[in-house]
Order: sequence, then C-alpha cells, then structure tokens
Amino acid sequence: MTIVLVAAVGKNNVIGRGGHLPWRLRSDLQHFKRLTLNKPVVMGRKTFESLGKPLKDRTNIVVSRNLAHRAPGAILTTSIDAALAIARDDAKKRGTDEIMVIGGHNIFDVTLPLANRLEITHVHASPEGDVFFPPIDPSMWCETYRREHPAGPQDDFAFTVATYQRR
Ligand SMILES: NC(=O)c1ccc[n+]([C@@H]2O[C@H](COP(=O)([O-])OP(=O)(O)OC[C@H]3O[C@@H](n4cnc5c(N)ncnc54)[C@H](OP(=O)(O)O)[C@@H]3O)[C@@H](O)[C@H]2O)c1
Repeated sequence: MTIVLVAAVGKNNVIGRGGHLPWRLRSDLQHFKRLTLNKPVVMGRKTFESLGKPLKDRTNIVVSRNLAHRAPGAILTTSIDAALAIARDDAKKRGTDEIMVIGGHNIFDVTLPLANRLEITHVHASPEGDVFFPPIDPSMWCETYRREHPAGPQDDFAFTVATYQRR
C-alpha cells in the first residue's frame, strides 16, 4: 500500500490560515481532485470542517480525539493508526493501492515518516498563515516530476506541481 501526502505549500511552508486555505487556486483544486478521486482520504477534524462537506467519490476518514464531534458523510476515528488501517481496507475494496493523506499539520507531521510519495503544489507566494507543512528533507526525498503552472483566471498565484519519491 502506498501512502501519499497531498499538500499545497507556500514558499514559507504555510498551508492554512484561520481554518481555511490562504489562497484561491481553482486549478490546484482540480489537480487535487484528479489525485484523490476514488481513493480513501485521511484528514484531521479541522480540515474536514474547513471543507464544509465530504469530498465526493472518496472515502473521507477523519481523525479526532473526541468522538462527540460529528463528521457526517465521513468515518470518524480517534487515531492516525486507526485511520490508516481503515484506509488500507477501503483502498483494497476500491481496487487502488493508494491512501491519500490530505492534512493538516499534525496529520502530515505524523505520516511523513510513513509516506512513500509526496504530491506537493508549491505555491509561488508566502502568505501569512498559522498552519505549516513539515520540511521536505532532500536527503530523504527525490523529486521525480515537476510542472510549472501559470496562474489561471481563478488562481491567486502561479504554482509548481511536484512529485517526490522516498529515496
Ligand atoms: N494547503 C493544504 O494543502 C492544506 C491541507 C489541509 C489543511 N489545510 C489547512 O490547514 C488548516 C487545518 O489544519 P490543522 O493542522 O489546523 O488541523 P487538522 O490537522 O485538520 O485537524 C486537527 C485536529 O485533528 C485531530 N487530530 C490531529 N492529530 C491527531 C491525532 N494524532 N490523533 C487524534 N486526533 C488528531 C484533532 O481533532 P480534535 O480537536 O477533534 O480532537 C485536532 O484538533 C486549515 O487552515 C486548512 O485550510 C491546508
């Protein structure tokens, strides 16, 4: 099973501000959808709440220490290990070998050492923020793909899509 972290990251490693994304990047949302469709997605409770509704055609698996939280349309679990176990079973049922981990900070922090691949959108901006992606250590990760993307009409910034494989 392949564990893939998917994140859009500013030049300053920012990924979030005030419970939301610090940018509007419609083209990247389409890229995110292509990467994650028909796969299990693992996320923290705040990321799920920031979405407003479950991601369609994906198994939404949400981690929270408090099962009193409601996560309609998602599977709620109390640990990242449990979330990954559920995701593994779900991926098999769906006929995929990929588990997509989609944030936020602590979820990325804990799963980075377990991940096989990173799908990173490097946003060409350094907005203020309060949630960060952990550093990508080049001695651990090898960039295998890179595509520049100019800002489209509904994108605040240009960005670069990059894939990293564990060395
Ligand atoms: N740019 C990107 O790619 C990207 C991706 C994802 C999110 N974001 C942004 O990041 C922000 C949300 O991220 P966040 O880091 O603040 O929150 P988060 O990781 O989405 O959610 C945090 C919550 O998840 C639960 N949790 C985290 N680690 C856990 C663990 N080890 N065991 C059990 N439960 C655990 C806890 O829920 P309880 O409090 O319920 O116990 C915790 O309060 C938003 O601004 C969002 O827009 C950006």
